[in-house]
Amino acid sequence: MTAPARFLMTDPAAFDVSYRINPWMDPGAWTAEHRAAALAASGELRAALQALGAHVETIEAVRGLPDLVFPANAAVVLDGRVLLARFRHPERQGEETVFRAVFARLKARGVVSEVIDLPDGVLQEGAGDAIWDAGRGWFWAGFGPRSNRASLGVIRKVFGREVVGLELASERFYHLDTCFCPLVGGEVLYHPDAFTPDALATIRARIAEADRIEATAEEAAAFCVNAVNLGQTLVMARAPATLRAKLEARGYRLVEIDLAPFIRSGGAAYCMTLRLDRTSDPRPAILAAE
Ligand code: ARG
Repeated sequence: MTAPARFLMTDPAAFDVSYRINPWMDPGAWTAEHRAAALAASGELRAALQALGAHVETIEAVRGLPDLVFPANAAVVLDGRVLLARFRHPERQGEETVFRAVFARLKARGVVSEVIDLPDGVLQEGAGDAIWDAGRGWFWAGFGPRSNRASLGVIRKVFGREVVGLELASERFYHLDTCFCPLVGGEVLYHPDAFTPDALATIRARIAEADRIEATAEEAAAFCVNAVNLGQTLVMARAPATLRAKLEARGYRLVEIDLAPFIRSGGAAYCMTLRLDRTSDPRPAILAAE
């Protein structure tokens, strides 16, 4: 038996849309009803992951840091090593000290083994912009709107793994996890319009056509590419029927959650979580089946 997947999530008690650092955010349209719905939605996501056998660590909310609910941006984690994020926007920079303390506690408990800082001047917004592709054994790393190009070499050095950079072309898809999602079967779900021509060429050179699943603008705007993949299951925001059909045809099962309040901040299932147990060793799939 393999160990359960382990995720970090944040108590949504301080979640709000009170500033605008991406085009999805509109503080003027944010209401108390949205806040109440967010509390319920976050709980549903946690329950869905737990129902799939995952272990979820929940950290406390911090007033004044509404986007702390997106721990995918806290760090890049692989083999127990944690590369702490540095945020582009002052609105989120206060999260850095909070997450530093969280990882120090996780280290004290033996959940992670090492916590590493980025060099000065390097911006990197965690697993939101550095997605581990377990089957291929490399990171896909987004840069442009948030993380900078210099982060690619740092990730490569810290983890000793190949890093495939993908430049993001749109403020709407400002983190790689909004428009790109590798699946366990080797397919990649992605939204082509989010990428520069160079990045698209890279994707097409590295992923066989049969494994490329394109998400339409509507599917991407529903934040369905921002999904958590556990085995054959994809946990995601409410999906258009077109996307459900594409994924089911490939043998995936969807668990859909109404994450509308978080989409108002520009995030959904993947970025509301941070996977803590990723390893660079291929998963022992054969042992797991025994
Ligand atoms: N409001 C947050 C921001 O703009 C949302 C972050 C969502 N995270 C993600 N990895 N897509 O930073």
